[in-house]
Amino acid sequence: MGMINKMDVAATQSAFREDLLSGKTAIVTGASRGIGAAIASRLCEAGANVVLCSRSAESVGQIADTLRSKGYTTLSMAADISQKADVEGLIEKTIEQFSQIDILVNNAGITRDTLLMRLKDEDWDAVLQTNLTGTMYCTRGVLRPMIRQKSGRIINISSVVGLIGNAGQANYAAAKAGIIGLTKATAKEVGARGITVNAIAPGFITTDMTAQIPEKNQEQLLELIPLRVFGSPEDVAAGVCFLASDAARYITGQVLQVDGGMVM
Ligand SMILES: NC(=O)c1ccc[n+]([C@@H]2O[C@H](COP(=O)([O-])OP(=O)(O)OC[C@H]3O[C@@H](n4cnc5c(N)ncnc54)[C@H](OP(=O)(O)O)[C@@H]3O)[C@@H](O)[C@H]2O)c1
Repeated sequence: MGMINKMDVAATQSAFREDLLSGKTAIVTGASRGIGAAIASRLCEAGANVVLCSRSAESVGQIADTLRSKGYTTLSMAADISQKADVEGLIEKTIEQFSQIDILVNNAGITRDTLLMRLKDEDWDAVLQTNLTGTMYCTRGVLRPMIRQKSGRIINISSVVGLIGNAGQANYAAAKAGIIGLTKATAKEVGARGITVNAIAPGFITTDMTAQIPEKNQEQLLELIPLRVFGSPEDVAAGVCFLASDAARYITGQVLQVDGGMVM
């Protein structure tokens, strides 16, 4: 009696996933590909209504359409998080459509890598404006609705580079370290309002962002990872889903590393 076969396990998991976040509304920035697309998909599977944004209406629309064709509730729009007016529009439209914002995932990010000696002001400004200031615009923008609801989850995608630095990424490392400071300060400001704010620091995740790294360097990188494999966007999405769920209700101001043990 009671032998659980694979089908039962699959059914249990899918039932668990479907109601984990049912009735919740989530915004995912940078959801047109890579980690953001995987996060949007995972939150949909968990039952949330998901608002996807990126700078390109077409590419983010395609991801949203695919999710909608699977029966999930999505809304997509072009919004450049480095532009305050775009962020205000994103939040307004979400409230208009779903009346609430329960989860914000600040995932959108860019790189402009070069050694600091050669770094142009515009490459410093662009990375800081998108990765850090954009994250601040979105975070500040959702606080009012979340405070009104007396609940909310904010999850910021930082990087292990924000913890340990990386040659050739002074701008990116500064922005990602800044996100960790922003996460902790905001967690302290809004904890009493029922809002948690956490960061995820992914290690090396296989996406468009990391595809440019030459194969030889990728092999060297693997040597630094105790689990000896690169992560997938789904590995990061699983961490986001956990932090967005009730299971993480007593966790705030933390940085969850999803890095195969690369940094410890
Ligand atoms: N891949 C890794 O190994 C790794 C490791 C650590 C941390 N991360 C972080 O994880 C996040 C996602 O990385 P990824 O590898 O999935 O990158 P990716 O494949 O380059 O995707 C970046 C996403 O952000 C969007 N985006 C860029 N600038 C934007 C802006 N100003 N406003 C709105 N959306 C914008 C892009 O869409 P559009 O081009 O259409 O705007 C795209 O959807 C980033 O914050 C990155 O720093 C990645």
